[in-house]
Amino acid sequence: MVPGAIAAEQTQGTAPARPALRVVGDGIPDPIGGAKGDPDRGRALILAHDAANCILCHALSDPGIRFSGNLGPPLDGIANKLSVAQLRLRVADNLRLDSATIMPSYYRTEGLDRVASAFRGKPILDAGQIEDVVAYLATLK
Ligand code: HEC
Repeated sequence: MVPGAIAAEQTQGTAPARPALRVVGDGIPDPIGGAKGDPDRGRALILAHDAANCILCHALSDPGIRFSGNLGPPLDGIANKLSVAQLRLRVADNLRLDSATIMPSYYRTEGLDRVASAFRGKPILDAGQIEDVVAYLATLK
């Protein structure tokens, strides 16, 4: 196994294994599962108040946002500060960088407390959705 990689977890039945994360330094250099992100879908996920709910904690200058929180840093210009690989790790598994973070690790399924049984073993966002969010963040220059 590649050092630092998490083994893909087998899902139930005939579903394919969940693609593994390969962390290098403080980033994930390759698209998870080889998915190609779509920035428009990523923007919709970031703005939505259901699955991702990023704007609960992050401000972002976007005409589609009326209210946002400030528990995390603003996301404006984030692509000037962080590489795509760094953005991918922060969205997929921020707990690896800071075990006390309040930001959800959107692609982690292990080592979490208080997960309702219906969601156990499932990441908050799937690999394709992570790539969509990362593709949108990469446009914020
Ligand atoms: C519950 C609050 C919360 C939510 C929800 C949240 N974040 Fe965060 N985020 C934070 C905090 C706090 C930090 C600051 C670093 C830390 O504590 O880990 C952070 C850090 C980040 C960073 C690094 C910023 C920097 O300047 O280094 C990025 C990028 C990011 N978040 C993106 C997102 C995206 C995209 C989503 C939605 C998919 C999201 N966050 C959802 C709280 C949150």
